[in-house]
Amino acid sequence: WQQQDMKGIRILVTAGGTRERIDPVRYLTNDSSGKMGYQLAAEAVRRGAEVTLVSAAVGLTPPPKVRLIRVESAIDMYEAVLAELPGIEVVIKAAAVADYRPVVQADEKIKKTEDKMHIELVRNPDILAEIGRRKTERQVIVGFAAETNHTEANALEKLHKKNADLIVANDVTQEGAGFSVDTNIVSLVRRDRPVRQLPIMSKQSVANAVLDEILSIRRERL
Ligand code: PMT
Repeated sequence: WQQQDMKGIRILVTAGGTRERIDPVRYLTNDSSGKMGYQLAAEAVRRGAEVTLVSAAVGLTPPPKVRLIRVESAIDMYEAVLAELPGIEVVIKAAAVADYRPVVQADEKIKKTEDKMHIELVRNPDILAEIGRRKTERQVIVGFAAETNHTEANALEKLHKKNADLIVANDVTQEGAGFSVDTNIVSLVRRDRPVRQLPIMSKQSVANAVLDEILSIRRERL
């Protein structure tokens, strides 16, 4: 890992959990801390890549030398990622994108007048699937899959459905895996390849294993 084996490769990483506004002071979100995505960005930079980090709000300091684009919602992330996509060779979608957003985002703070209230939700666009549709022959697309059961089967389905080249599957119910912690337990799921199950590792080491896999996919295309 020490050499500059990703020199000049243009990589876009997404990180963190999107925030879906209910009103000016409230939102729906998830447990993503951004650690997995920030480690990927940091390690890619260290290996010589040119990294654009599209980050939802997280409490982390951005790694040096990345181009940081801050976003709030899934729609913001969708727009930012698709605007950057034409100049990018590798996309890694480590962000936990909210599947739904409130239909209405109130302009004023909602008052507590009723005992019960309902928030109606509408599906967000699937960023990874849209990237998969626009993918060119030169691009390598990597998605994550946060699963609670049938991890590898679901990951394989995502790989094909979203036209990705690699899915990094984490069973987020396992201790030491998934959201917020500093370690992860992942399986690397590729087309026409046996699944590679990795042991528990630091998110930094997982990041390097994912970057190694990306280089191997790129080498195969040459
Ligand atoms: O941030 P950390 O605290 O370090 O936690 C890391 C993590 C658990 C968030 C990360 O390892 C991870 O699994 N990220 C993906 C979480 C997720 O949203 O999984 P999913 O199975 O719902 O989505 C599958 C893939 O589609 C993901 O690459 C996701 O970015 C993408 N997606 C999902 C929905 C959507 N509307 N657009 C998308 O692009």
